[in-house]
Amino acid sequence: MDTIKTILSRRTVRKFKQDKIERKTLESLINGARLAPSGGNLQPLKYIIVDKEEEVKKIYENVAWAKYLGENFKQNEDERPTAFIAVLVDTDIKKNGYEIDLGAAVENILLGAYSEGIGTCWMGAINKKEISKILRIPDRFLLNTVIALGYKGEFPTTVDTEDSIIYYKGEDGELCVPKRKLEDIILEF
Ligand SMILES: Cc1cc2nc3c(=O)[nH]c(=O)nc-3n(C[C@H](O)[C@H](O)[C@H](O)COP(=O)(O)O)c2cc1C
Repeated sequence: MDTIKTILSRRTVRKFKQDKIERKTLESLINGARLAPSGGNLQPLKYIIVDKEEEVKKIYENVAWAKYLGENFKQNEDERPTAFIAVLVDTDIKKNGYEIDLGAAVENILLGAYSEGIGTCWMGAINKKEISKILRIPDRFLLNTVIALGYKGEFPTTVDTEDSIIYYKGEDGELCVPKRKLEDIILEF
């Protein structure tokens, strides 16, 4: 898939097929993050691959899905992610102001994955304390985000938003993600 097509079609995926993602594929996605732009080229981010079934299950129990869907969010056991990537900040390299680097690096992972047919969900609503314990993360590293991954099992679409940014289920059960219109975000003063 070419880059612009990937950017335009990538959507957050929360239903996954159960085919395992090969370890070397997960490593190649992190290689994409490794080469992302970084302020001062400090590269303060580190990653943990979680792809063993038992550990994936433990992380799964400590993340929250699709808050806007509430009760309407359904994910069967055979639609769960098959892997996670935990994104850590190495505080020996940078203690503050790493968030912009993190956004660029994570987006590289999401886009790289999408172009390989792998869906992702960037997850900020996570129990950091518990996940840090499960992954035995030393104090020096701050857990910021986990990315849920799996081969795509749903195909959400975007709609131009009139007013609400709340995503919702469409008539056929597909996830519709409102995006602000182009003319509403290009400003001229
Ligand atoms: C910083 C950040 C944190 C997020 N945390 C969660 C989360 O905890 N759970 C979840 O289901 N989705 C989470 N998302 C996914 C957003 O809901 C999603 O990106 C948004 O609805 C737009 O959809 P799109 O990614 O398909 O464009 C997060 C996204 C970002 C950028």
